[in-house]
Amino acid sequence: MASTHLIFCIFLFPLFAQNTAGTVAVGSIIIATETSSPWLSPSQDFAFGFRSLNDKDRFLLSIWYHKIPEQTVVWYVNTIDPVSRGSKVELTSNFGLVLSDPHNQTLWNSELMIPGQVDHGFLNDTGNFILRGSDTDIQWLWESFRLPADTLLPSQELKTGDGLISRQSETNFSLGRFYLRFRNDGNLVLTTRSVPTNEENDAVYYESNTSDPLNPGYRVIFSSKGTISIFKINNQTQLLGPASTSVPASENYFRATIDFDGVFTLYYHPMTSTTNAKWSPLWSVPDNICLSITGDKGSGACGFNSICSLTNDQKPNCECPERYVLLDPNNKYGSCIPNFTLSCAQVEPDSREEVYDLIVHEDVDWPLSDYEQINPSNESFCGQSCLQDCLCAVAIFRSDSCWKKKLPLSNGRVDMKLNAKAFIKYRKTDSPNLNPRSIPPVQVQERLKDRKTLILVGSVFLSSSLFVNLLLIGTTCFGCYLIFWKKKIMFHPNTNAVVETNLHYFAYGELVEATNGFKEELGKGACGVVYKGEWQKSSRNIIVAVKKLDRMSGDADKEFRAEMNTIGQTNHKNLVHLLGFCDEGQHRLLVYEYMSNGNLASLLFCDKKPNWNLRSQIAIEIARGIVYLHDECSTQIIHCDIKPQNILLDDHYNARISDFGIAKLLATNQSSTRTGVRGTIGYVAPEWYRNTPITVKVDVYSFGVLLLEIISCRKNVDDVENGDRSNIILTDWAWDCFQEGRLDILAGNDFEALEDKLKLERFVMVGIWCIQENSSCRPTMRKVSQMLEGVVEVMVPPCPYPFSFTS
Ligand SMILES: *[C@@H]1O[C@H](CO)[C@@H](O)[C@H](O)[C@H]1NC(C)=O
Ligand SMILES: *[C@@H]1O[C@H](CO)[C@@H](O)[C@H](O)[C@H]1NC(C)=O
Ligand SMILES: *[C@@H]1O[C@H](CO)[C@@H](O)[C@H](O)[C@H]1NC(C)=O
Ligand SMILES: *[C@@H]1O[C@H](CO)[C@@H](O)[C@H](O)[C@H]1NC(C)=O
Ligand SMILES: *[C@@H]1O[C@H](CO)[C@@H](O)[C@H](O)[C@H]1NC(C)=O
Ligand SMILES: *[C@@H]1O[C@H](CO)[C@@H](O)[C@H](O)[C@H]1NC(C)=O
Ligand SMILES: *[C@@H]1O[C@H](CO)[C@@H](O)[C@H](O)[C@H]1NC(C)=O
Repeated sequence: MASTHLIFCIFLFPLFAQNTAGTVAVGSIIIATETSSPWLSPSQDFAFGFRSLNDKDRFLLSIWYHKIPEQTVVWYVNTIDPVSRGSKVELTSNFGLVLSDPHNQTLWNSELMIPGQVDHGFLNDTGNFILRGSDTDIQWLWESFRLPADTLLPSQELKTGDGLISRQSETNFSLGRFYLRFRNDGNLVLTTRSVPTNEENDAVYYESNTSDPLNPGYRVIFSSKGTISIFKINNQTQLLGPASTSVPASENYFRATIDFDGVFTLYYHPMTSTTNAKWSPLWSVPDNICLSITGDKGSGACGFNSICSLTNDQKPNCECPERYVLLDPNNKYGSCIPNFTLSCAQVEPDSREEVYDLIVHEDVDWPLSDYEQINPSNESFCGQSCLQDCLCAVAIFRSDSCWKKKLPLSNGRVDMKLNAKAFIKYRKTDSPNLNPRSIPPVQVQERLKDRKTLILVGSVFLSSSLFVNLLLIGTTCFGCYLIFWKKKIMFHPNTNAVVETNLHYFAYGELVEATNGFKEELGKGACGVVYKGEWQKSSRNIIVAVKKLDRMSGDADKEFRAEMNTIGQTNHKNLVHLLGFCDEGQHRLLVYEYMSNGNLASLLFCDKKPNWNLRSQIAIEIARGIVYLHDECSTQIIHCDIKPQNILLDDHYNARISDFGIAKLLATNQSSTRTGVRGTIGYVAPEWYRNTPITVKVDVYSFGVLLLEIISCRKNVDDVENGDRSNIILTDWAWDCFQEGRLDILAGNDFEALEDKLKLERFVMVGIWCIQENSSCRPTMRKVSQMLEGVVEVMVPPCPYPFSFTS
């Protein structure tokens, strides 16, 4: 007996010691210096802390592999810049992780699901940093796996709406140009990102094709065996990459990274460090990134004027054409500029061949930037024609056609299949210290002879400097963009920081023109009619929705601009962005971005129900948008008119709330019998009819009704106008169904929803909590959002009408 005890003790001790490893107590701090020790996971595979960067005074808050010598960062916050020496990260009970600079200014904090309850942190051996509360029902308050940067690790998942963004370069962790996105429609795509708007370019260069509306993907799962697959609604999985690998998971680390060069790669690395152990690619997409990026915006896989060729491990190799040099000598993946002047000004027409010459490249093509096509043509004529034409930078000859191209050239690539030949023009005799970026215009103009050449030269100078200018504008904007991000992080909801709005002010005439005289009507709302329009914004036509406000309340005039200012400062992915407005005489118009997939009402109440996964995702997104309006923007916004007609859907079926912030401008709703009521019958909270104050809880009520509609795909009240009478009031009926345990009837026998029983039940209960007659019983939108996402337990709700039966 005694000996068994002894054995137990011997075994228990190390076990116990292991269990406490990885745990980080509230109050723990790491200071950003080279010598500070990181927090380690129990197995010491991963470390959390500061890593010093190339610039020795900058540190990156990150998670990395602790045991391998090659620096491999797997997590960082890509919206903040590296911090200076002496900054610190502290684990606090209120905000979780708080990163602050040496002057105690908060730079970032982990936004907790529920503030104020962190018990401890834990760095899991999977590389996930988890914040736990004392409440054991809640698995985590925050985890780094839910905020991925550019890397996925085994056991990590992507939900629809999530994504990865590449970094700038191997060592620069600022946001790069490439996105991996798991779109709301279930499709996993690789796209390029445009700087500085952060919008996706249209160019999708890889897609998993898992957006079948009947059976969309809903999770991307990276298994601990090192395989990546997409789970679909009907339990099928679609594997990305090899099904089983020859690489044993017990002896290797795996990671999947969207590399800074745009290739999404699954890598492995032996756990035991031998001298030449390194990360080796196991699988990657796309097969040929040089050829895969085809969009007409952006520079392609490499920078402008660069040529992309594929290396043996499916990576892009970027090279400037001869006589072209890198704009940023340290960034070989960046743009190239000619190391000579390409201009018509200094050369007499007949001496062009003496000054310029051609370099011929086989199998090189720039598919875009044409300004002229000569067909039929032949090789020698094609080259000569470019040489003679002072506007021509490159000519491509292929299948009897000659394409003449201007700068900047984009999507340059080596393509063996095309059988193309590139004639690249360069200048033979250039004065040695002529730097194309610094010729003052005067110098060029001095050589002008007559007015005719003046015009020509002017335009040439414009076009050749346009490229440099574009780059300059690009870099400046990117700078602003970074500053913007930084600002955004530093804003605390409570600080009344003043933000510049970038709303455009429209003249009425402009909008008449943009909408072609208010020709195409998109819809009619409580506050006015919406028209489709086209707005030419910096040489780009964008489609917009123009809303004509009709019933303005008397004192709204004064408030209009103040309100525009408030709306202009909002920025959330689940809100429709206001682009500008018009406030001229009697005319009040709002210009919004156009949402191609219409509104939620037409999605929900049409013959074919949208699938449960999409519906529940939309509900969660709407909740997030309202949380933002209530808690996170500098001025609190109560929407007052949440209903499916005011939820719009963008290209990828992301829910976007519209019409927020304008409720107080409108005359009171004439469709309601009481004065003072704002909103729509069926969605307005009971306090509008009582003598109780109007708070954010009115939106919670409307959201509850909307949530029940999303669950059941039924309208709350009959649409009498359209003769649609089912004689039920959804909110009452939902309560009856819930009480009788008949969620199947409520969900209209939607088998997907019924299979997802826990979530369905959770959603129904949340809906009933929201429609409580007593506004103080309704949860806040933040709580609603947490309950929907399943991070907070949902209690069984009471009957929503405690008053109605007595009064
Ligand atoms: C930083 O802020 C904390 C909490 O507000 C305070 O206790 C501490 O003294 C401050 N340190 C400095 C250097 O200001
Ligand atoms: C670490 O993560 C794995 C996978 O998510 C999980 O199964 C395990 O419980 C976690 N470990 C701890 C101690 O939380
Ligand atoms: C990273 O790249 C960005 C954008 O090009 C640049 O502004 C920043 O200074 C770079 N950071 C470092 C540490 O080089
Ligand atoms: C997705 O569809 C496109 C177009 O049909 C095809 O080129 C591509 O190979 C498909 N992707 C996958 C992963 O099957
Ligand atoms: C999906 O898998 C779950 C759990 O394995 C199972 O209960 C359910 O019936 C499956 N659904 C379908 C449609 O096959
Ligand atoms: C090439 O094309 C040009 C113009 O189309 C023509 O004048 C010339 O004769 C052609 N040369 C040959 C060798 O075919
Ligand atoms: C660019 O031009 C300058 C001056 O003509 C020359 O010294 C330099 O070597 C050139 N660089 C390249 C990469 O050709």
